[in-house]
Amino acid sequence: MKLLATVILAAGKGTRMKSAQPKVLHPLCGQPLITYPVRLARQLGSTTTVLVVGHGAEAVEEALATENVGFALQAEQLGTGHALLCAQPALADFSGTLLLLCGDVPLLRAATIAQLLDYHHRQGASVTVLTATLENPHGYGRVVREGDEVVAIVEEKDATPEIRTLREINTGIYCFEAPFVFTALSQVGCNNAQGEYYLTDVLALARSAGKKVCALAAADGDEAMGINDRVQLASADGLLRLRINQQHQRAGVTIVDPAATYIEPGVAIGADSIIHPGVHLRGTTQIAGHCSVEPGAMITDSILGERVQIKAGSIVEASEIGVGCNIGPMAHLRAGTVLLGDNKIGNFVETKKARFGRKSQASHLTYIGDAEVGERVNFGCGTITCNYDGVNKFQTTIGDDVFVGSDTQFIAPVTIGRGSLIAAGSTITKDVPADALALSRTEQRVIEGWAAKKRKKQQK
Ligand code: UD1
Ligand code: CA
Repeated sequence: MKLLATVILAAGKGTRMKSAQPKVLHPLCGQPLITYPVRLARQLGSTTTVLVVGHGAEAVEEALATENVGFALQAEQLGTGHALLCAQPALADFSGTLLLLCGDVPLLRAATIAQLLDYHHRQGASVTVLTATLENPHGYGRVVREGDEVVAIVEEKDATPEIRTLREINTGIYCFEAPFVFTALSQVGCNNAQGEYYLTDVLALARSAGKKVCALAAADGDEAMGINDRVQLASADGLLRLRINQQHQRAGVTIVDPAATYIEPGVAIGADSIIHPGVHLRGTTQIAGHCSVEPGAMITDSILGERVQIKAGSIVEASEIGVGCNIGPMAHLRAGTVLLGDNKIGNFVETKKARFGRKSQASHLTYIGDAEVGERVNFGCGTITCNYDGVNKFQTTIGDDVFVGSDTQFIAPVTIGRGSLIAAGSTITKDVPADALALSRTEQRVIEGWAAKKRKKQQK
């Protein structure tokens, strides 16, 4: 195997996005565009990956801080050839195959590029370009061939009418032999319609140096789609979404309406789970088998055990939901919620940093935050852990088998012993021992006939 390095061009402005944000940071299926070629390079075993940055360089570098890539600055955008030349110092010692990717071409599959590399090596080529055949090739560089070999790539603006009729286009993705490519690049001039240093000129230069220049046509032209504006961004998002959804479907997940189901690339789902329309599964979410996620649910960075049911409109963030839990409709599980199994969290219930033992439940209109809850605890409707005094957060601890009557407030910090009973409407400010009854409400007064008297008065 030859050593592989990758250069990703991402210095361009992306004028047509009409955005204050660099183009390559716009999200596609929840992740910045630029992360797709970066991860593709890693998947292919690239030992060194260099990003050529220019417009919004700082923001791009910051977004990729944890991705283990190098950066080369192209201060002025003088063309694709000049851009690759900017990466030369970072690859000064590199000898092997150099893969060139674009920061705004996110849909390439690893298998396609593996094929390109394989073809490049088998042909013993110095340059191999990935091409696509398009119905409408307008705007792209055209590939002028002689059999397997390529004579030149000619930009639309420099092309004769005859060359403009060619439908095989340059996708902008190449394999080069390094350091040869840099030697060739140093000879590229800018005498063309755009006054730019064209990377594509390397092909003709390589040929006149007696090197082999090849082209491989991508089976699926959509893969090489570049993002220039927000219309293309949405189309690419749709294509990638369907691709992700199909992977899950083929692995045994039912997706009722794939066009309306938003699953990010890092999500895992077990077989026989069913995902309804309008669901968003984000980040590192992992869903086990036999789960059901109903319309409008949004689950981020969370782990769901088997047979979990997430009912319509529920939001789950950075939480762990054990086997057999039943959530929602319209529940909000915030970060740090841990449900150990067979729990029920019903409508309009919010939890945060709360750990529930098995079979504990809060079925309606409740807030449980900063709490440690035992097993088989039942929270009545309208229970509130008052965890915040405006400055600090405090803990509520509730033992096993506690029954909490409706409309109870726990003024934290407070500890409730196992098996105790909290009477409805209580404000609990002190610890309650095990098996006790706690009640704190003013005694009821009844004044006979008072309402009838009042009505009579009003009628007069
Ligand atoms: C380029 C190709 C064209 C091909 C098309 C595919 C050349 C001369 N032309 O054209 O044959 O069909 O891509 O999309 O290479 N970039 C920089 N610095 C620069 C210029 C560009 O980093 O100075 C980056 C851009 O950010 C982008 C990529 O290179 O990621 C392609 O640049 P772009 O301006 O879109 O090239 P095209 O003119 O479309
Ligand atoms: Ca382009």
